[in-house]
Amino acid sequence: MRPVMIRAHRMALILLSATLLSLSSQTQADTTAFIEQFIKNQIDHKYDNQVELIEQNSARVSSAVKQLIDEAMMEDRVFEQRMGLLDYASSMAYMHSYWNGDKEPLKLVEPLINAELSKESKRVAEIMKWKKEERNLGNFVLKANPEKTKEAGLAPVLYPHWMHRIMFECKVCHNAIFQMKRWTNDITQEKIVAGKQCGVCHNGKMAFSAEEECERCHMAGLPEAEKLHNPSKIDQMKLARSALAIGAKWNPSRLPNGTMPLDKYKFIDWLKLKELDAFKPIPSLDKDAEHKTRDNVIRFVSKSSFLDDVLFGHKVHADWINCSSCHPALFSDTLGGTKIKMTEMSKGRFCGNCHGKVSFTFADCKRCHNTAKTVFVEGALERHPTKR
Ligand code: HEC
Ligand code: HEC
Ligand code: HEC
Ligand code: HEC
Ligand code: HEC
Ligand code: HEC
Repeated sequence: MRPVMIRAHRMALILLSATLLSLSSQTQADTTAFIEQFIKNQIDHKYDNQVELIEQNSARVSSAVKQLIDEAMMEDRVFEQRMGLLDYASSMAYMHSYWNGDKEPLKLVEPLINAELSKESKRVAEIMKWKKEERNLGNFVLKANPEKTKEAGLAPVLYPHWMHRIMFECKVCHNAIFQMKRWTNDITQEKIVAGKQCGVCHNGKMAFSAEEECERCHMAGLPEAEKLHNPSKIDQMKLARSALAIGAKWNPSRLPNGTMPLDKYKFIDWLKLKELDAFKPIPSLDKDAEHKTRDNVIRFVSKSSFLDDVLFGHKVHADWINCSSCHPALFSDTLGGTKIKMTEMSKGRFCGNCHGKVSFTFADCKRCHNTAKTVFVEGALERHPTKR
């Protein structure tokens, strides 16, 4: 069974029971009971029971399959829901053809499944196209309303985190202006023009206006976007002037050979940039705001004898990032209070909320697993696996 179908089981059952409740006549009630029993057996992997069930209900299979198809093809279904329901229809029809010798219901389901799968492959191709536009770590294609943008004759928006990071600490935007989670901010042109979201700055004063230079943001997939993918193609002096105008600093003369320092994965090495004193982002748009940081290190003692420990510096993080971006959303603020799983981290939880998306990637094991067991670190708070 395709993995996506397994995820859809529970959803399918909930959807079905909601619609089937409204059916009234006896035959319909029998068909409903049959479908529900069939799905339960599938979920519990009781295939022996299915043989009996399908044989006893031979006369009902055809209408049950049709009912599942109607349910699956309803307009507001997302791919996983639709495929989950079609998968039940298909299993039922297949068993019916095998044990009762009637192939008709199967002929109904199969073309539908093939059509859905080919539509899905187009959707995946579309996703991959935009993935390419996000090849520079932290460049996000914002396209919650692709139709509306297209209607206006514009490309989707390419948001370059890196360029903003030079001028602004994370705190400026997270979470005062944007939640630190993609697609949760409901960004629209209307709100921007009203001075919210990007419009807090893109108002023609602090930065170019969102009411005028459309293509400077609506740039994803256009050749002009190259400068946002390749930081060395940026007009350095122009950026230096923009930074200066808002009280930040960008000093390209400090770059070795005039180029951005990159890590071994060819992404900007921000801590190297900081060491070179090439940039100084502002901590807030409000000059009088107070800033908290935390200056200690936490040692994640590794369970394994060959893997180095992880030294987490509170300061390097909290200087730029609000406490509330991490606590309690990602981590407890009690030592050892969080149960961290490496497998979930690489899927974007815990440290993976930022690393691999805006900060250096997971492939860079040694940048986190950076402290040999034999090395003593003065004052480090130790997090032992046994205490978790
Ligand atoms: C000028 C504003 C701005 C600054 C500064 C900024 N961000 Fe963001 N950030 C955004 C926007 C916009 C999004 C996308 C929001 C959306 O899609 O709804 C985002 C999204 C994110 C996400 C979500 C990624 C995901 O896959 O869900 C993370 C993590 C993040 N930012 C981390 C950071 C870090 C770390 C810093 C500082 C080093 C930072 N940001 C600085 C504007 C900013
Ligand atoms: C905290 C202020 C701030 C916020 C919020 C902000 N920006 Fe910017 N952005 C700037 C500044 C300052 C510049 C450099 C501007 C300049 O040269 O006029 C800039 C530059 C850019 C550039 C580079 C364009 C070029 O031609 O070089 C793009 C693209 C951009 N912003 C998009 C966005 C988008 C999209 C959003 C919202 C999702 C956003 N920005 C939110 C301040 C901000
Ligand atoms: C500072 C960056 C910026 C500039 C400049 C800008 N936009 Fe947008 N625009 C956005 C963002 C971000 C979105 C939300 C994209 C999404 O998720 O679909 C957006 C969305 C839109 C949409 C889709 C409907 C909606 O409200 O979400 C339209 C239409 C649009 N913009 C038109 C324009 C036009 C016309 C101009 C020039 C007059 C312009 N934009 C300039 C950032 C910008
Ligand atoms: C962004 C930081 C970061 C990166 C990058 C990273 N790890 Fe980890 N890893 C951690 C943290 C933190 C823990 C400790 C979790 C805990 O305490 O349970 C951990 C735990 C582990 C564990 C669990 C066993 C143990 O020692 O407790 C393994 C295995 C592991 N990492 C392997 C890797 C490998 C392999 C890579 C590179 C592909 C990698 N990690 C990259 C932060 C990172
Ligand atoms: C990048 C994420 C991040 C940021 C930002 C951050 N923390 Fe933490 N903090 C952690 C992690 C990870 C732990 C360890 C959690 C555990 O052991 O379960 C931790 C632990 C703590 C602890 C318990 C250990 C200790 O240091 O005494 C306190 C208290 C704490 N944080 C306070 C803060 C405060 C206050 C700020 C803001 C000034 C802050 N943190 C910013 C990630 C962060
Ligand atoms: C809220 C976002 C965020 C989270 C969550 C986060 N980091 Fe980071 N981390 C950053 C940023 C930003 C930097 C600066 C470097 C960069 O952006 O590539 C950084 C840098 C680091 C560095 C480099 C320090 C140095 O001196 O070289 C290490 C190591 C690190 N993080 C480990 C971790 C570990 C381990 C966790 C989880 C316990 C974690 N980070 C969680 C944003 C985050």
